[in-house]
Amino acid sequence: MSEHARVSAELARIDAFFPILQGLGTRWAASRPFEGLTVGVHLHLTTITLALVRELVLGGGRWVVSAANPATTDHGVVEYMRTLGLDVHTGRGSRDGVEATVAEEPMLFADVGFALGSALLDEGQRPRGGVEITASGVTRLRERLPLPFPVLNINDGRLKPAIESRRGVGEGLWPAFTTLTGQHLSGRMVLVVGYGPVGAGVAAFARAAGATVEVAENDPVRRLIAHYDGLATTDAVPALKRGRIVVTATGRRHTLGAAELASLPEGSIVLSAGHGGDEIDVAWLRNHATTVDQIGPRVVRYTLPSGRRVTVLADGHPLNIVTNSGSPEPVLLHFLLLGLGLEHIARTDLPPGEVCLPVGLEEEAARMALGVIERPAG
Ligand SMILES: NC(=O)c1ccc[n+]([C@@H]2O[C@H](COP(=O)([O-])OP(=O)(O)OC[C@H]3O[C@@H](n4cnc5c(N)ncnc54)[C@H](O)[C@@H]3O)[C@@H](O)[C@H]2O)c1
Repeated sequence: MSEHARVSAELARIDAFFPILQGLGTRWAASRPFEGLTVGVHLHLTTITLALVRELVLGGGRWVVSAANPATTDHGVVEYMRTLGLDVHTGRGSRDGVEATVAEEPMLFADVGFALGSALLDEGQRPRGGVEITASGVTRLRERLPLPFPVLNINDGRLKPAIESRRGVGEGLWPAFTTLTGQHLSGRMVLVVGYGPVGAGVAAFARAAGATVEVAENDPVRRLIAHYDGLATTDAVPALKRGRIVVTATGRRHTLGAAELASLPEGSIVLSAGHGGDEIDVAWLRNHATTVDQIGPRVVRYTLPSGRRVTVLADGHPLNIVTNSGSPEPVLLHFLLLGLGLEHIARTDLPPGEVCLPVGLEEEAARMALGVIERPAG
């Protein structure tokens, strides 16, 4: 199957089973909310993002797309977007793509990890506004306050944490884990580091699959919530020594740094459900390993001087995104919010700074999704 045919087939599957974005495309084709605007999109370039972008462009405007992470970039999607006439930048690193998008001086933007927003600030640009969809991005944008333009925070609304972060990641991560390793979760020990919405979902789906789950969380409130969710709570370092499957869901650089990685016992498997590629210090493993074996696609085993072996999945990048695994529904749902958010900024004069998602926007997104979900069969 050609790449174009594979990507088309995936779009057709989305259209057949969860066509929640088409309503927006139809509306935008008539109302053209983005006419006259350059819009920068900095996202993971997967087929689900393509399903969004395909509808967005119907609303007019000029669209410039950059890849958020080379490890999550589907090159079939990049080519498909180019056939739609889009300007797509993959770059060798994520920064190269961002720079190309910044050079187009977008007036609106959609961002993951506040990479594009930060670059626009660095260049002194004053877009009309943007939307940020991730927890990591919201943390970064708060580090840059006060902002001279509005950024709509999609992450901390009601829908995104409950559905995409909590259910989407947990549901997608574990099938990918089993495909890559061949391991079943039943009876295994899983340590989840970070108990935000993502970690909570990863833990819940692991437990449902029969694993024994422990949670390491720095925030005492979330740690207590994990306890009342029925999970054993612990500090990361002693728990790491017991060895297991370890998942990071923190958005924080080097959550598994040199000390944590060195304390892992023989046979541990580590993976990320968070953001970017640096929650696990894979470079440290690479530099300290006596041997590095690629034992399967996206599965690398490092043997340390102590003789202990540590296996890393997807080079420490978010496994569910790299493998595009799980149902596309949760991501499509928060992309619905992203689209409505961009339309809102195009139409409304918002104050500069972090802007909370209007309640009405989330209700509209929920109603649109329910319209598809509850549609009578036949
Ligand atoms: N893989 C995906 O598809 C996907 C989807 C949504 C979000 N994300 C990303 O996943 C990450 C987590 O998202 P979230 O919404 O749960 O974020 P969050 O910020 O709400 O939760 C992260 C938690 O990790 C804890 N933490 C940080 N460092 C820690 C450490 N060293 N040890 C123990 N706990 C630690 C924090 O206290 C916090 O409670 C973010 O980076 C987000 O951008 C990934």
